[in-house]
Amino acid sequence: MRVLGIETSCDETAAAVVENGRNLLSNVVSSSFALHEKTGGIMPEVAAREQLRFIIPVIDRALKTAGASGGNIDAVAVTQGPGLIGSLLVGVEAGKTLSYVWKKPLIPVNHLLGHLYANFLENDSSFCPPQFPLLFLAVSGGHTQLVHFRDHYDLVLLGETRDDAAGEAFDKVARLLDLGYPGGPAIEKAAASGDPLAYNLPRPLLDVDNLDFSFSGLKTAVLYLTKKDSFKFSEKEKSNLAASFQTAVVETLVGKTVRALQQTGVKTLVAGGGVLANNFLRATLKTAVEKMGVKLYFPPVNLSTDNAAGIAAAAFYRNQPEDLFAVSARANFKLTEGNGSN
Ligand code: KG4
Ligand code: ZN
Repeated sequence: MRVLGIETSCDETAAAVVENGRNLLSNVVSSSFALHEKTGGIMPEVAAREQLRFIIPVIDRALKTAGASGGNIDAVAVTQGPGLIGSLLVGVEAGKTLSYVWKKPLIPVNHLLGHLYANFLENDSSFCPPQFPLLFLAVSGGHTQLVHFRDHYDLVLLGETRDDAAGEAFDKVARLLDLGYPGGPAIEKAAASGDPLAYNLPRPLLDVDNLDFSFSGLKTAVLYLTKKDSFKFSEKEKSNLAASFQTAVVETLVGKTVRALQQTGVKTLVAGGGVLANNFLRATLKTAVEKMGVKLYFPPVNLSTDNAAGIAAAAFYRNQPEDLFAVSARANFKLTEGNGSN
């Protein structure tokens, strides 16, 4: 089964062709983040306009690279939500139009499932896809969740952030330190030359016996430090604070994930979302879970951040087309509703 995936939930316009949920035939991502650099964050109207500008060339390139066309595509998968409504609309309408014109089924997909199923794409010939039951750690700009999947599309939400998502905290702290946008890679770069022990920052909710997260207090702690007269915004201070912040976020994420693995007894951890592009998170997660005999999956960096390959892969495992006239973009689409769980 050959699926064209389309993803436009935020500031990436992406299209990909995936065969049998596993073989990536093409993967095209165009990002408008350079435009948001000037404003230090995403302007939803600007992002939506860029989606409109790129959607057709991006789909066209994905099809051509895969040697695919309406005639040999079996289904069209599209991110239905969550995300920015203006951006989502562009992808959803494009997907509906192609589905109608090609007379091929339309499979709407939750964005977070795209981050999960990016891990089901083959990366070498000895690749063995994740086995259920599994724990999914989703860490992106909009979400931080721990989800127990008993099987494909059979899930229980174990914990999530009560305020800011981890990626959002990276973006906000990068702005406080004037490090640029997107904040994650900027913090990681600055942190590389910093001392992670220079500032004693909180590990929010880490001592609380639940699986929830909270990152807004951590961001406020960084804000207070930068407001002190003694903080001069030198390169050294900024990299020390970036390193201390990154360590606080990573220790919190890894600590809660280890707790979820202990509580569920699940032996497979699958992680995904833009924050997984962070090498310190990847390494710390690996060390922590391997000690527990848990098999860990995370995607290559280009499939950690937003892409359509995971969306096409997720659709293969669902393969329940919906009436295309009934499908609409949903900004607040939760993993636990609709096509997320049963
Ligand atoms: O999954 P994603 O591409 O989009 C959303 O679904 O939100 O995640 C984007 C988030 C941004 O907040 C960005 O700062 C963060 O992922 N991110 C990183 C890194 N690369 C991207 N965070 C930490 N370290 C990175 N290297
Ligand atoms: Zn995402």
